[in-house]
Amino acid sequence: MKKHIAIDGPAGAGKSTVARILAERLEYLYVDTGAMYRALTWYFLQHNFQADNFAQVRKLLKQVDLRLEREQNCHRIFLNQQEVTKAIREPMVDQHVSLVAKIPEVRQYLRGKQRELALSSNSVTEGRDIGTVVLPEADLKIFLVALPEIRAFRRWWELKQKGLETDYFAILDNIRERDFIDSNREDSPLKQAEDAILVDTSSLKIEEVVNTLLSMVVED
Ligand code: DC
Repeated sequence: MKKHIAIDGPAGAGKSTVARILAERLEYLYVDTGAMYRALTWYFLQHNFQADNFAQVRKLLKQVDLRLEREQNCHRIFLNQQEVTKAIREPMVDQHVSLVAKIPEVRQYLRGKQRELALSSNSVTEGRDIGTVVLPEADLKIFLVALPEIRAFRRWWELKQKGLETDYFAILDNIRERDFIDSNREDSPLKQAEDAILVDTSSLKIEEVVNTLLSMVVED
């Protein structure tokens, strides 16, 4: 039987790093659902997108061909044949992605793709609504949290390592705003599934989080 692990939580709680390492250690497929929302956001931004223009969003969704190419245990992302794996991490996408992710048509478009991908293999799937909506039957559900100030610092540091000088307080504001939009939208908001285990990563190193999660995985 295939095994499926769902990891949800707010931006910057460590989901991506932890999910990627966990998937590597277990030799499972890593599914980053946020990357798919980011890819659509990137595409919409190229087309002067307006979040409240639903007719435009529907039209853009019809034009878009989102393709994931498996590379070892994760994916490269292509939109209409163009690779966007790196471009979707730009601050411009950070600023708009929550607005795109609250559009029901967008969520519906991506949900099926995410579920299909996650069920295709043993997998670690990471997002906001995996344990509640995308994979409610997951074998293990984790809800990762951390203080907003710590999450903002981690993001600031990550960008600095990449040579990008950014304003810590602007990042903190963006994180708070995304938390608010993601948690309060009507369609599949960010929330802990009833059967998910809460892990606070505020004072934990990545290795400690990974080991905590590994100890929860029951292998056949
Ligand atoms: O994990 P991330 O920061 O790459 O996610 C980007 C945005 O996508 C985030 O603000 C909320 C949204 N998202 C979502 O609504 N549902 C998911 N399953 C994954 C991400």
